[in-house]
Amino acid sequence: HASKEALTEEGWLLKKKLGSRVYIPGHHYQRDEVIQFADDRGDSLRLAQLAAAKKEAEYIIFCGVHFMAETADILTDKRQKVILPDHRAGCAMADMATIHQLERGWKRLQNQFGDTIIPMTYINSTAEIKAFCGRHGGATLTSSNAGKMMQWAFSQKERILFLPDQHLGRNTGVGLGIPLEHMVVWDPIRETFEGDAGTRTQVILWKGYCTVHELFTEKNVADCRKEDSDVRILVHPECNYEVVRQADFSGSTKYIIDVIDHAPAGSHWAIGTEMNLVNRLKHNHPDLKIRSLNPMMCSCLTMNRIDLPHLVWSLAQLEAGDAPDTIISVPDAVAKDAVFALKRMLEQS
Ligand code: 13P
Ligand code: SF4
Repeated sequence: HASKEALTEEGWLLKKKLGSRVYIPGHHYQRDEVIQFADDRGDSLRLAQLAAAKKEAEYIIFCGVHFMAETADILTDKRQKVILPDHRAGCAMADMATIHQLERGWKRLQNQFGDTIIPMTYINSTAEIKAFCGRHGGATLTSSNAGKMMQWAFSQKERILFLPDQHLGRNTGVGLGIPLEHMVVWDPIRETFEGDAGTRTQVILWKGYCTVHELFTEKNVADCRKEDSDVRILVHPECNYEVVRQADFSGSTKYIIDVIDHAPAGSHWAIGTEMNLVNRLKHNHPDLKIRSLNPMMCSCLTMNRIDLPHLVWSLAQLEAGDAPDTIISVPDAVAKDAVFALKRMLEQS
């Protein structure tokens, strides 16, 4: 068992040796010990844009979760290989929408609403869900462009099926002025609506959620305000509607970073997003008073599965010329449809 220092040193040495053969993108929720090696950091949108633009690297070691690595594989050149250092780094939210549930649900929705629905998926979804959306005229979206993409969707069809995050769908819908009564939740397990679905329905929200962001509660908001009347509350739109409504600011990971980077010195913040990012912001801004909106500190188990040993092991495999066994490869039949959904988004972004 090498020490953390020794592993870090080995990681830098290997990265240097591999040079431009390897490109390492990293999501902002990654551990410090990992993100230090990233050539670029970003939120989901930026990482998708970078993957689409990066043509020279032979290998892309993706420091993020499974759906992000799949997205990179779909958008990169055929000869480029995408590596996810630990294949157990999934996403609880993406797992809440399977292609079988979607195909069954879609039939039911078609029976009720006919050809008036466009399927739109948060990028936090499997390649197969993206492919379904691509085949049916829909697109992907991220928390950075959700409003714009929903508006685009309404230019195509009367109704949106929004997968898989009900909270991002609801919060974005409300932001566009859609009344809550015009949105209805679809439960893919029980195959029923939760609430009334009828002619006024504009958004059908898939009943998925992020297991990290759902941990921020209205009670957390009330407690923070009680403890500190100067606090400003800043949350990700994967938090539930009431939390977002009661917060002072809400937006994507990139938005959260921008707000904090421009915050007045001495201001107080309670942030509702993944712990690694909150801790990094705290560390980078000692002049601000920053804390997690939930004092428990909410961490994404799967994001954290990409750790220093897994990253160094992936680099070592490549350097030794071994066939990496952590390649993510989306089947061509899926990728060819999923790319439509992703390109429709990238064209608007
Ligand atoms: P963004 O990077 O789009 O803010 O998404 C947050 C997230 O939960 C990624 O898994
Ligand atoms: Fe998925 Fe939430 Fe983790 Fe992001 S933070 S990877 S949405 S479980």
